[in-house]
Amino acid sequence: MVKPLSPLLRESMPEKDVTEGIEHPLALLKMVLEDPTPLLDLANFSIVSARQFTRDQIVQLCRLAAKHEAVPQQSRRPLVGKILISAFYEPSTRTRLSFESAWHRLGGDIMSITDPTTTGIAKGESLSDVAEMLNNYGDLVVLRETNKDSIYEMLKNLRIPIVNAGNGIDEHPTQALADIYTIFKWRPQLVNREVESGDKIKMGIIGVPKNMRTIRSLLYLLSLFPSSFSEIVVICHEKDVFDSTQEEYLQNSSLNIRVTDVMNKELPELDVVYINSIAWIGDSYEIFGEDYQLRKDSPLKPGAIVMHPLARGEELSTDLDDTNHNWYFAQARSAVFIRMALLTCLVQHNW
Ligand code: CP
Repeated sequence: MVKPLSPLLRESMPEKDVTEGIEHPLALLKMVLEDPTPLLDLANFSIVSARQFTRDQIVQLCRLAAKHEAVPQQSRRPLVGKILISAFYEPSTRTRLSFESAWHRLGGDIMSITDPTTTGIAKGESLSDVAEMLNNYGDLVVLRETNKDSIYEMLKNLRIPIVNAGNGIDEHPTQALADIYTIFKWRPQLVNREVESGDKIKMGIIGVPKNMRTIRSLLYLLSLFPSSFSEIVVICHEKDVFDSTQEEYLQNSSLNIRVTDVMNKELPELDVVYINSIAWIGDSYEIFGEDYQLRKDSPLKPGAIVMHPLARGEELSTDLDDTNHNWYFAQARSAVFIRMALLTCLVQHNW
């Protein structure tokens, strides 16, 4: 059931977008009618893949994130007394800290594992046994692991929700949520089912989808919004850019996708440029060469936004930081609010 804004929310909403930065969460909040129904299905749910979300869930999660961001005085503390187990067996700056920031802002407590050698795993304990123990200690697990199968191993014994915070080259579904929330704040009309042809955007994705978890998850989410994009251009030096699962999934979607290896020819036409730094190959990674570097003097379209899940390498010059193209810092900031929205729904659906 679609409900209009509650009178309480309308009264406490600022007239103008008073939040810091270049994003417009208030415009997005006003664009989307509240409908909690799709979010109820997320209660006690584990998130492994971006493919688990429906279009309506994404729209309502973005609305809830925009509410947390634009009207923080309305945010309650629904996770008081709840404990997050934050298990990062691979380095992270943004994902761990934004998850923990989100949980703190919602009133909960946190236990953090940042080094697996401090747990029984160093003595050969199985992940499924660790999972059995975690059931007793917390209310939700966030896991980052280099091995893409570890999360499935833990799922066998977990009775509390687990969220995939990056499993090898496979997926990073909550990064994709932060990405799409950022795009919708930039152009709120893109959440609509019907988007006028002049409002559709052309998005470039620089990277190798089969080796990059952020891009894999992002493409799955974008495929829920085919009418928002005139074209997705994947820019990559490789010929086989998709694995068979991705290829089949994307072929069954209505996204208009093209692959090219020449970046600068595409840049003047792109409204959103999404660049990633590294492609995982086994246990190591490759860095793109000079042909895939974005700089202030790159032929970017005026008004185009540049996104990057970070951490950046040489592919994204710091001389873009002070330009209007820089939406990668806004993207990192968005992660806190979209994770607040998701965590509230997974643990406690009385938001
Ligand atoms: N975006 C992202 O996954 O960054 P971290 O590796 O710092 O978590």
